[in-house]
Amino acid sequence: MSEERLVSPRPKDEDREIESSLRPTRLEGYIGQERIKERLRIYIEAALERGEPLDHVLLYGPPGLGKTTLAHIIANEMGAGIRTTSGPAIERPGDMVAILTNLDERGVLFIDEIHRLNRTAEEALYPAMEDFLYDWVAGKGPSARTYRVKIPHFTLIGATTRAGLLASPLRDRFGITLRLEFYEAEHLERIAQRSADILGVEADSEGFREIALRSRGTPRVANRLLRRLRDFAQVRGKGVIDGPTAREGLRMLEVDEMGLDRVDREMLRSIVTRYGGGPVGLETLAASIQEEPETIEDVYEPYLLQIGLIQRTPRGRVATGGAYAHLGMKAPDHGNAQQKLW
Ligand code: ADE
Repeated sequence: MSEERLVSPRPKDEDREIESSLRPTRLEGYIGQERIKERLRIYIEAALERGEPLDHVLLYGPPGLGKTTLAHIIANEMGAGIRTTSGPAIERPGDMVAILTNLDERGVLFIDEIHRLNRTAEEALYPAMEDFLYDWVAGKGPSARTYRVKIPHFTLIGATTRAGLLASPLRDRFGITLRLEFYEAEHLERIAQRSADILGVEADSEGFREIALRSRGTPRVANRLLRRLRDFAQVRGKGVIDGPTAREGLRMLEVDEMGLDRVDREMLRSIVTRYGGGPVGLETLAASIQEEPETIEDVYEPYLLQIGLIQRTPRGRVATGGAYAHLGMKAPDHGNAQQKLW
């Protein structure tokens, strides 16, 4: 689908630039994720006191919650440089050697979408993470020789949408694993206010509140809504995102009171109307709304699960009573789909 989406899995180029201008650079400026910040402060202070690089860090959670931001903050707090790449960008064996051998001592290597690394690249990481060695294979066939090359003591920060997507030998090599959670409305409100200050956007407390409540617990969505509503306020209003302007703009964007967009609603409606409330398998559901199963699993489903509109069962996805209510439909009399399971 080429249409702009508020909930897209990856930031677009425009987003990337603006997102990086909005990104806090130190833990102190990072709003929310209190548990993660508390732990990171301790690990970072301890590593700095010992004069060692930080242990390898795995960050996982739905898109847009701040994994990349945190990776940069960790590097800054460690006083280290950061090199950024992504799983799919490392294609040939030579790519990984070039990256690993060019790192600074105690530098940070950030690999986004680390679950998409190919097998060879992933296996090259094992000795690198564990012993700071790279196994260089020279020649082919029976005459091939392996040389172990030393590489700098570095910190790998890996980011993924789900930790379960990683092979366990890779997952086990991370000393620190942190799961990012959806943000509370109060934190999203502060994030939107901070972004508005940086971008020079005018909004009132009611406007910020609407943005916070409708951004699916996700700062990237809050920041996108802020920019789209700024356009709306400029053209249709007085340039200020107040409550009524925000609500009218959100209606135009087809973002409802719970922050759901058209795809979310289509998904719920499909479970309810085509599959009797479920359970329906992921592939079937994806085909019915013409989406990729991965997009549903990584982008749409986590928030719908979080707010209790769907449930995951061994036999597939089930719409809850809340989903029926949200669609303005009556749940089946003989127990809803959930109860059918037991
Ligand atoms: N911008 C995006 N995410 C943020 C966060 N967690 N804190 C502050 N600003 C942000």
